[in-house]
Amino acid sequence: MRSSQSLENQNQASKEDNLRLSIEKLVYGGYGLARHRDKVVLVRFSAPRELVDAEILQDKKDYAEAVVRNVVLPSSSRREAPCPYFGICGGCQLQHIDYNAQVESKESVLLETLRKIGGIENAPLEESIQSGQEFGYRVRVQFKVKNGRLGFFRWDEHEVVDIDHCPVAHPRINELIGPLRECAQHIRELQEIHVTYSPTEDKFLVKFVTPTEVDRDFLNNLKEDCLPADVVGVGDYSRLRTILNRRFWIGKEYLFMNTGRWKYRVSADSFFQVNWTLWDRFITAVSDVEPFRKGIDLYCGVGFFTIPLSERGNFIEGSDSSPSAVNDAEYNAKLNNRDNVVFMRADAYRHLKSRGGEVLDLVVVDPPRSGLEKNELELLVKNKPERIIYVSCNPSTLARDLKSLIKNGYRLEKVRLVDMFPQTYHIESVSYLRVQE
Ligand SMILES: C[S@@+](CC[C@H](N)C(=O)[O-])C[C@H]1O[C@@H](n2cnc3c(N)ncnc32)[C@H](O)[C@@H]1O
Repeated sequence: MRSSQSLENQNQASKEDNLRLSIEKLVYGGYGLARHRDKVVLVRFSAPRELVDAEILQDKKDYAEAVVRNVVLPSSSRREAPCPYFGICGGCQLQHIDYNAQVESKESVLLETLRKIGGIENAPLEESIQSGQEFGYRVRVQFKVKNGRLGFFRWDEHEVVDIDHCPVAHPRINELIGPLRECAQHIRELQEIHVTYSPTEDKFLVKFVTPTEVDRDFLNNLKEDCLPADVVGVGDYSRLRTILNRRFWIGKEYLFMNTGRWKYRVSADSFFQVNWTLWDRFITAVSDVEPFRKGIDLYCGVGFFTIPLSERGNFIEGSDSSPSAVNDAEYNAKLNNRDNVVFMRADAYRHLKSRGGEVLDLVVVDPPRSGLEKNELELLVKNKPERIIYVSCNPSTLARDLKSLIKNGYRLEKVRLVDMFPQTYHIESVSYLRVQE
């Protein structure tokens, strides 16, 4: 989209088409926030406290969106982005900013979101859990495939940027890109390739996503001929909106992921936290709690938190709507010799409802980006567990839900940022709540 007339007409200081803007700070989405006259301008690829010339991409009623074309006075946190695709590829938003400044900005965004949406002034933010590495941290990657290109969508259009490596992916996943590209040439209408890597086993699982079924023998031959032996399982999938559906699977269906004392079996269709460099500290942040009698872990996945938490309590139940995750979780309880934990396949609402009248000391929730459903929140505050730990990957829905919990008698004791996704705007956090006396 072209520059807005209204904003361009007001532009006094910079070249034609560009607006000279002073960036105040970063906001959610990885944009720099500037003001022009009375309008907020959200500027891509800018850094806090710098002066830039930016091109207006969209001029909306309440704000405009722009992209940096020239840095006039750089921020002290600005650096050369290490990745040659940065600024074209839509995967990363913050590579041009020092890692410590990225974390500081995310802390500010988290606090501001809690204040603005949650009405929480000066939230008790404690020390952040930084990523162990700012690159090479991702062990799960979803590549897009389109028109012979393999990579990720551009930030500005629905076209795939062809890449030969991705610095945030684990180096071993990067080694697989060449063989995957070879496979992609042989699979008609291929849309996506999902890779999971286990640093514990040094092995991979690969999913191919296509609109029409791939011949099983053909895929088997492709696995043998094009992919290294470390790829121990491959599957053929279709996608319906956000849901992947398996047509068939060849080979091993799961990998083991170990961290600290904990061992997890993770099947191809189960969720697992993507950043292997902070698994152990993330687990400690959630599970190092005061002893409890009975607890429940909603949205438990393969038992990532439930199993370590079981050491602190008499009894804990985990639930998840994914059958694959619950099968893994049950296996993982045995694998880790935990006999005071039970898992069930249930959505969070049903699990909470079934525990209606029970006294619960601790409820852990780790919902998807949409946060807790209204009816889940209602049941939660009706049940009134003494403590709630809320793991969130979206500060906006977290703030909305905390507001409701606080209104219903909870005190926010502390919040921690967990920097699960360096170089990107994504904000993971853990909030600790306790019912007021
Ligand atoms: C962000 S993951 C967290 C998993 C786990 N806590 C972990 O750290 O590995 C969210 C999980 O919620 C599950 N899920 C999604 N919607 C759900 C619902 N309405 N009820 C229960 N589980 C749900 C997904 O299957 C997924 O395993």
